[in-house]
Amino acid sequence: MSETTDGMAITNSLSQGIETALIVAASSNNAIGKNNQLLWHLPNDLKFFKNTTWGFPVIMGRKTFEAVNKPLPGRTNIVITRKQDWEAVGVKTASDLAGAIDLATQTNAKQLFIIGGGEIYAQALPMADTIFLTRVHAILEGDTFFPALDESQWKLFSNDDFSADEKHAFDYSFQLWKRK
Ligand SMILES: NC(=O)c1ccc[n+]([C@@H]2O[C@H](COP(=O)([O-])OP(=O)(O)OC[C@H]3O[C@@H](n4cnc5c(N)ncnc54)[C@H](OP(=O)(O)O)[C@@H]3O)[C@@H](O)[C@H]2O)c1
Repeated sequence: MSETTDGMAITNSLSQGIETALIVAASSNNAIGKNNQLLWHLPNDLKFFKNTTWGFPVIMGRKTFEAVNKPLPGRTNIVITRKQDWEAVGVKTASDLAGAIDLATQTNAKQLFIIGGGEIYAQALPMADTIFLTRVHAILEGDTFFPALDESQWKLFSNDDFSADEKHAFDYSFQLWKRK
């Protein structure tokens, strides 16, 4: 959603009025994955992801689905693929991002989450309203990246910092970004 100058909400033509959020964990250099896997094991981030997305439709690329390898429980799972005969038990498929957003809208949820990976984040960022970004405070080697955020378009709304501990190899911050 965005706002007109007189304050009336207008609907992004692609997101059809449903609140569109990206949720991602990215290193300081925006790496999000390597060899189709995550770069860390951060149990608190997994809990945050589950609690935040629970009950809502989640949209992901086919490679991210195959990394997870099963539907996420308690959520409508929508996988984007160009492969016309691709299917998996417990997921809906769409042939592009707009089709995936259509399927999410049909659930009547007030919000959908784009959960990756790199290709899908890049395509969805222009239509996102909010970003739940777990910033992992390390420079890590990856082969998949989150787009750099343009701070003329995005403002940091909240930030909660956590220190590394025996279960978390890196310092990390839960950040909420909103479109300006
Ligand atoms: N850190 C995080 O928060 C996070 C979250 C999610 C994923 N990841 C990581 O990200 C990596 C995977 O990301 P990725 O960029 O390689 O792959 P991806 O975005 O998960 O999936 C790419 C696939 O999506 C389909 N696709 C993309 N654009 C499409 C379009 N416009 N129309 C139709 N289909 C389209 C294609 O599937 P087909 O080839 O089947 O046509 C494409 O190969 C992994 O390392 C994963 O661990 C990290």
